[in-house]
Amino acid sequence: MISNEDLDYCYDFVLKLTIESGKIIRDAIQGSKKIETKAGDWDLVTQYDKKMEEFLINSIAKEFPKHKFIGEETVSSTNSLPELTDEPTWIIDPIDGTTNFVHSFPFTCVSIGLSVKKELEIGIVYNPILEQLFTARRGRGASLNGKPIHASKVEKLEHSLLCLEASYATIESIRDTVLGRMEAFVSVAHGIRTMGSAALTLCYVAMGAAEAYHTDNLMAWDVAAGVLIIREAGGVVIDTNGGEFNVMSPKVVAAGNHKLAIELVKLIKKADFTTLQKKLLH
Ligand code: IPD
Ligand code: CA
Ligand code: CA
Ligand code: CA
Repeated sequence: MISNEDLDYCYDFVLKLTIESGKIIRDAIQGSKKIETKAGDWDLVTQYDKKMEEFLINSIAKEFPKHKFIGEETVSSTNSLPELTDEPTWIIDPIDGTTNFVHSFPFTCVSIGLSVKKELEIGIVYNPILEQLFTARRGRGASLNGKPIHASKVEKLEHSLLCLEASYATIESIRDTVLGRMEAFVSVAHGIRTMGSAALTLCYVAMGAAEAYHTDNLMAWDVAAGVLIIREAGGVVIDTNGGEFNVMSPKVVAAGNHKLAIELVKLIKKADFTTLQKKLLH
């Protein structure tokens, strides 16, 4: 059993830790880094990703020895994704936006979510370069640097700024699908943005700076914190197929409201159909 007081304590402890860990990113972003690739040339990791995750997990585990962890770099090094259980589990992306970090592009963050009984209870996303701290507690709203944030009420794709991830177009097996969806987004919206940090993009939808975000191919640590932040800001996150969102297998359609999310699901289906038709004609 974890009480509200326990959650208050967890939140305060991890918030302080997250802010402290941001110093590692801030001090390192302009300097040279040891860069390695993981799944491909587009999938980078530095010594700082590993250092950050080690610092965060060790510090949280010392304070909460019974808690579990799902962290990107631990999963990468062990090659196994733990199952999400009912136990308190910290879902950690030590640096989200590593490619941005490598290039000193200041759109990068620490992202930490806490799941209890498979319910997201705490979400913290911190960009230490732009000093933007997004936070949420389930049932208590979301904020940016302590001020409440609210998702957009725009219901039409034609009046929206839409975000997606372009980098997946480098993977041959999904290139056509990604480019087809991107073309559909460009032709309907006010504009599209591809920012290179899933966690921060979710937070920008939460604060109403963009209307919606879509990407498949993400992992739990990319989205756990951001999903709670959007929901607490009044927005919605559903699966790309229109069904219920699963944080352990995230296919993301996030939007300021349900109506827009459904419009986006329809647009994606239409784009995929067009891509398939083009393929069949060739
Ligand atoms: C990546 C970023 C990026 C998304 C990738 C993620 P990382 O996380 O969130 O925006 O397109 O799928 O892997 O590797 O920088 O933590
Ligand atoms: Ca990564
Ligand atoms: Ca990530
Ligand atoms: Ca990462």
